[in-house]
Amino acid sequence: MENPYIPFFMRIEDIVLETEDRKIKTFILAFVNEEDEARFSYVPGQFSEVSVFGKGEAPFGMASTPTRPEHLEFSVSAIGVVTEALHNLNKGDVIGVRGPLGNGYPIEKFKGKNLLLIGGGFGFSTLRSLTNYILHDPNRADFNDLTIIYGARNPGLLLYKADLEVWKKRSDINLHLTVDKEADGWKGHVGLVPNIVRSVAPGAENTFVVICGPPVMMKFTLPVVKELGFSDENIIFSLEMRMKCGIGKCGRCNMGNKYICSDGPVFFQSELARLTGEAHF
Ligand SMILES: Cc1cc2nc3c(=O)[nH]c(=O)nc-3n(C[C@H](O)[C@H](O)[C@H](O)COP(=O)(O)OP(=O)(O)OC[C@H]3O[C@@H](n4cnc5c(N)ncnc54)[C@H](O)[C@@H]3O)c2cc1C
Ligand code: FES
Repeated sequence: MENPYIPFFMRIEDIVLETEDRKIKTFILAFVNEEDEARFSYVPGQFSEVSVFGKGEAPFGMASTPTRPEHLEFSVSAIGVVTEALHNLNKGDVIGVRGPLGNGYPIEKFKGKNLLLIGGGFGFSTLRSLTNYILHDPNRADFNDLTIIYGARNPGLLLYKADLEVWKKRSDINLHLTVDKEADGWKGHVGLVPNIVRSVAPGAENTFVVICGPPVMMKFTLPVVKELGFSDENIIFSLEMRMKCGIGKCGRCNMGNKYICSDGPVFFQSELARLTGEAHF
C-alpha cells in the first residue's frame, strides 16, 4: 500500500499573477517524474495538500481540469506561513503535492442536467476546473445549460481573465460577472452575488446549483436559491475548513460524524442540514 503522506514532487512551470492586489497567484505545475501523471487521476472539486519544504503544507482545490492532465494548477491567496512561502517561490522550484484528496463534484449526477455555478473569491478555482471540464469538446454534450454567476469586489480581483474572455465568446454558456461597485469601463453586473442571483433568477427545474466562495457569500446565497425553487437535494456546497492530514485520520476537520477532508469537501445541502441544521457557515 502506498504511503498517503508522501507527496508527488512537482516543478513550478509558470506563475500567473491573478489579481491587481497581487495576493492571488496561480501556480502551474508539472510532475518531476512523468510517470506520476497517470497516478494522479482526479475530478473537479477535489483538492491536494501542497507543501513547501521546510515550511509546511496547506490544502488547495485543483483549479486545473483533468482534461489537461499534463499540468496541475493551484490558485493561492497569500495569508500566512505556507501561502506566503509559496508566493516567494519561482519558476523551476520544486514543491510537494499530496492528492488527489476529497470527494469532488458529483459529475455523474450532473449529466443530462442544467448547471448553475455560483462563485466568489478563490472559491471559484474548483468551479473553473468544473467549467473547463464541461466545456471540453467530448464532454459538453453530456450536460445541458451552463450558467455561471461569479463575483469579485472589483474587476481587478476577478481570477482567470483569459478563461473569462474565452467563455464570453461561447454561445453554450451564460456567464454573469459582477463587481460590488461601479468601476471605469466595467460592463457587467454591479452588486453582491446573492442579489445578482436573485435578479438573474435562473430556473430551478432539472438543475443543480453549486455554490463555492467565502462563507458570507454562501450563507446569503442559500436563501436566494431556495426562493428560486431549488430543493436541498439540488443545492451543493464546497466547504473549506481548517485541515491537517487531509485523509480522515487526525480528526481536525470533523462536522458531526463526517470529516470535511474525506467525506467532503463537496456536500449536498440536504446532508449539511441533517448534520448541522442550517448554520454551517
Ligand atoms: C478543501 C480546501 C480547499 C482550499 N482551496 C484553497 C484555494 O484554492 N486557494 C487558497 O488560497 N486557499 C484555499 N484554501 C485555504 C487554504 O488552505 C488556507 O488559506 C491555508 O491553509 C493557509 O495556510 P497558511 O500556512 O498560509 O496560513 P497560516 O499561517 O496557517 O494562517 C494564517 C491565518 O489564516 C487563518 N487560516 C488558515 N487556514 C484557514 C482556513 N482554512 N480558513 C480560514 N482561516 C484560515 C489562520 O487562523 C491565521 O489567522 C482551501 C482550504 C481547504 C480546506
Ligand atoms: S484533516 Fe485530518 S481528519 Fe480531516
